[in-house]
Amino acid sequence: MAIKTKDLIDLEFLTADEITEILETAKPMKAVMRRDIKTVPALRGKTVATLFYENSTRTRLSFELAAKYLSAGTCNISASASSVQKGESLQDTGRTLDAMGTDIIVIRHNMSGAPKLLGEAVKARVINAGDGTHAHPTQALLDMFTIIERKGKIEGQTVVILGDILHSRVARSNIWGLTKLGAHVRVCGPPTLMPKDIEKMGVEVYYNIDKALDGADVVNVLRIQMERQQKGLFPSIEEYAKNYAMTEERLKRAKKDVLIQHPGPMNRTIEIPSAVADSAQCSVEEQVTNGVACRMALMYLMSGGESLV
Ligand code: CP
Repeated sequence: MAIKTKDLIDLEFLTADEITEILETAKPMKAVMRRDIKTVPALRGKTVATLFYENSTRTRLSFELAAKYLSAGTCNISASASSVQKGESLQDTGRTLDAMGTDIIVIRHNMSGAPKLLGEAVKARVINAGDGTHAHPTQALLDMFTIIERKGKIEGQTVVILGDILHSRVARSNIWGLTKLGAHVRVCGPPTLMPKDIEKMGVEVYYNIDKALDGADVVNVLRIQMERQQKGLFPSIEEYAKNYAMTEERLKRAKKDVLIQHPGPMNRTIEIPSAVADSAQCSVEEQVTNGVACRMALMYLMSGGESLV
């Protein structure tokens, strides 16, 4: 079964079966990454362009390596070094990539909705690599893949998403994916960083971190996004850290074998102290590795690849 929609805008638009197939396909892709020769010919002759209007270390490199491991041709376009600076629209930039025969465009943009607009304008398949505060579907896939590796399954796990829920595309995409696959999702953060009506997404809302962590299997600690904060949403960084940092002491509230996740980049002095970030319970580096495998699986299936599972 290949993915039916032309573009991947968010996990909201995938079925539970499609998400499961991507996660299952990521297993053999991870085995490819462990080999001495890390390439398979699955996307030979195809071209993947990464179009990043916002900074990234992990996601951009991960897509580029994933495409290379599948033997696709790759090219990278930074908004800062492209004709965007001369006023070219997103759609015209996309049509230019289409005209050169690009098969997949991976886009990150600071405006929510930009990947959808691009997808409607181009023939190439579009993958959302993070748009504003809306969605980051491949981050959610790699977070879920890591939960399955560590815990065996998603169904029935109690997953706490902690921090700045309001500005977090990672939170939103994780909520779609985790709830579709049967996890119990709790969101926890200051009231001013909690979106109105978030419980309609099927999550439990907590403002007290100790209550949220009680019995948790997984805690996904979000980055405080200084670049997206308006003034006055919390009194100070110190106050935020005092009430919501994922400290060793607070971890005692969760299950003994709790898994700590963080999408990166981490603010070690704010939301996650080094003692937790560098502990064996924290999967931050595994998540990075798994991101490559999940993106390989996604691009393989979006290109019509046969089921490997
Ligand atoms: N997690 C994540 O999206 O990281 P980058 O911003 O480095 O891509």
